[in-house]
Order: sequence, then structure tokens, then C-alpha cells
Amino acid sequence: MEALVIGGGNPLCGTVEINGAKNAALPLLAATVLHGGTYILHNCPDITDVALAAEIIEVLGGRVHRTGKTLTVDTQSVTAWRVPAELMARMRASVLFLGPLLGRFGRAVLTMPGGCPLGKRPIDLHLDAVAQMGAAVTLQEGEIRCEASKLHGCTIDLLFPSVGATENALLAAAACRGTVIIRNAAREPEIACLAEFLRAMGAEISGVGTETLTVAGGRPLGDAACTVLPDRIETATYLCAAAGCGGDITLLHTDGGLLLPVLETLSDAGCRVEQTGDCLKLRSDGPLRAAGTIQTAPYPGFPTDAQALVMAALLRADGCTRFSETIFERRFSHVAQLRRFGAEIETAGPTALVRGVRQLHAAEAGGSDLRASAAIVIAALQAPGESRVYGINHLHRGYDNLEGGLRKLGAEIGQENDWKFPAS
Ligand code: UD1
Repeated sequence: MEALVIGGGNPLCGTVEINGAKNAALPLLAATVLHGGTYILHNCPDITDVALAAEIIEVLGGRVHRTGKTLTVDTQSVTAWRVPAELMARMRASVLFLGPLLGRFGRAVLTMPGGCPLGKRPIDLHLDAVAQMGAAVTLQEGEIRCEASKLHGCTIDLLFPSVGATENALLAAAACRGTVIIRNAAREPEIACLAEFLRAMGAEISGVGTETLTVAGGRPLGDAACTVLPDRIETATYLCAAAGCGGDITLLHTDGGLLLPVLETLSDAGCRVEQTGDCLKLRSDGPLRAAGTIQTAPYPGFPTDAQALVMAALLRADGCTRFSETIFERRFSHVAQLRRFGAEIETAGPTALVRGVRQLHAAEAGGSDLRASAAIVIAALQAPGESRVYGINHLHRGYDNLEGGLRKLGAEIGQENDWKFPAS
């Protein structure tokens, strides 16, 4: 099993460029299938989830070409509307092809999507949304079939502001004849990025950034280009690493305005955070203070994707920090792994209480999801001695060269091939 070897205990200092957001790039790639054309996505991160979305487009009949950070996607020759189960199983965001395929071909066949094991993660809200636009949805032998001779306008009241369901509804609505109103829509910045791309394709969308999105469907769609917005969770990852280890870092091409609750928490804990233009700086000089209570919530609340990262940053903070996870039922898988480094954390249902310790020690640990793995790396960077972090395939799903970025900040970190998880 591949592992990262990390020599921890040193401050982080230097400059790193932030990549485009995984969670923006994936819906943009799905959107290219909505109408046969040529699409250009700038600032697209080179991560395995993006490669998988490209593979789905190619299996459907399209072509994807990467030059540096730019992807050119040609979907004119897409003729298939079935996403193979093997590809569906590898990523939650594969479900985002539902709306575009249904919108373009009047039919889509998928299976349940895979992805990080954070809880039940049903797709009922996605299916309800397309059903309200007139799609017949059937579940048969593990396959989800959606068919509609014509999608029609409607008002969709999402029971929860699901990011993926909002995106799927927007994608299908762009091809709908009639007006679709999506109420209780998610407001994550990645949705605004998708809406901007759909508008560049020709769609008419209003209410972007609010809880109510209105799509005047049926507009002719065509070629478009777009720049993927900066990854706010990658930004949070570097900030949390430097906050926990101490140091002075500068992150380029990013926007702290997209992660204000994380910046506020790190400032309350004693870090100095400053944004100038598209450059974000963090300085962490001494022991951090605990941060009271952190409760995850839909945007603009505290992002669930940053919960594990901030927890890792505060393992040595003076006092207790309480984390309350409200988005996913099982998002504390990192806790047991962080304890391996000497962290003191108690969990009770959706709550975790971190009691800051003076010092962490080196350990061997592994994450079972993307952000849990990143949190373990942050703990290892703070622990004097040599740690091993396994399960790095999760990191490669969502981080474009995290090891390289951390090395630029002075971290001792490298891959060790053929390392095996020790028995018990
Ligand atoms: C997206 C992000 C993920 C982030 C999450 C919450 C992408 C590719 N992934 O995931 O990184 O952690 O938003 O910010 O953008 N739910 C239902 N039924 C549904 C859909 C969702 O009950 O049909 C529930 C989920 O189980 C979960 C909650 O709603 O408890 C939030 O999920 P959702 O916002 O849909 O997250 P994703 O789009 O999967």
C-alpha cells in the first residue's frame, strides 16, 4: 500500500498556488454533455476525480484533452446516455451526469454513485427534482432509469439545500421547455460557478447566490469557456496545516471570502489572516487557543469539508473545542486516526470534543475519505518524528499535488511505495 512519509514538528513557511476547485470542475464537466459542442475549462485541477469525469465523457462518446491546467471538451459525438456502473461506483459526483443526459437525450441510465463513506448519501432529492420536471424514474435491478419525452417547467422545493441536487436540477432545467424555479437551493460558490458556465452556454438563470434559482429553460445552448474558481477547501487545508504547525504562508490565486467561517475560526484561535487581492496570508506564531463550538452548516455556514481539517489544526490548542457535524451522519472517521498521534478527542453522536494536548507524537494512520486523509497529514506535520500516512489514493482524488505544495512550505513529506499497514 502506498504511504506518505512525513517528518513532522517544523513550522511551515513559503508560498503555494491554489488550484481550481474539485467541486466546481466536476459539475462543469457534467454540463458539457448537456449540448454537443466544444467547451474550454481553464484552471482545472489535475486530480483523479476530474480524470474520472473525463473518462465518463469519453465512454459516452466525447473527447477530453488536457493542456496544463486547461481542459478542452468536445461533446458533439456523445451518443450514449448510460453511465457504466463501474464508473458510477468510483465517485459521488458521477450522479451529476443525470441532469445533462436527461436534458439532452430525454433519457439517462445510471446506478447508485459511490464516493466518500460519510453517511447514507441517498439521491432522492436529485430524482425528485427531475421527476417534477416530468421524468419517469424507475429503479430496476440496481439501475436508475429516467425518461422524459419533454421536460417541463415546475417549482421544485428542495427538502434540504443539497449541493448535488441543486446542480442536477439546474443542469436538467437548462434543457427544459418552460421555467423551473428551484427553492431552498444550495448557495455554495461552486453552484454560482456552474450557473455562470450555463449562462455562457446560453441558459437564462437568475437568483444566483440566493435560495431561489429561476431557469428560463429551452434557450439554445452552445460552445462556452469558463475558469474554475479557486478551491476553498484546498485553501483551508494549507491554512490549517500552517495554523497547527506554526509558520507564515502565502497562498496565491485564492479568495478567503469563500471560506469566511474558517478564517474567523483560525483568527479566533490566534492566527493572523490577511487577504490582499487574490493572495491570502496566514501567520501562526505561538500556541493556538481553542475555538469554542464549531457547527457545520450549508454555505455560507462552516463547511463540513473543513471540519476534519480545522479539528487537526486545533489538536494542540489551549482548551477544548466542540465540533458539531450537521451535514453528514458519519463524518468523524478521522477521530480514531488523530488519536494515534496522541490527540484527546471524545465523540458522542454528531459531536466531537477536542481537548488540546501539549504535544503530538509520530504515528502510522490512514484515512478512509478525502478530507479525513488530509486531516491526518496535518496532524503528522505537527508531530515530531517520522509518521506514515496511508490511503493516499483519497488525497489524489481531490488534491492536485498536495505533497509538492507542502514541500514548497518546507515540509518533509514524500511517498513511500510498497509500505504495508502493520498487522493490528
Ligand atoms: C457536495 C460536495 C461535498 C460536500 C457536500 C456538502 C461535490 C462534488 N461534493 O456533496 O464535498 O461535503 O456537498 O457541502 O460538490 N442528501 C439527501 N438526499 C439527496 C442528496 C443529499 O438526503 O438526494 C443529504 C446527504 O445525505 C447529506 C446532505 O444531504 O446528508 C448534504 O449532501 P449534498 O449537499 O447533496 O452533498 P453532495 O452534493 O453529495
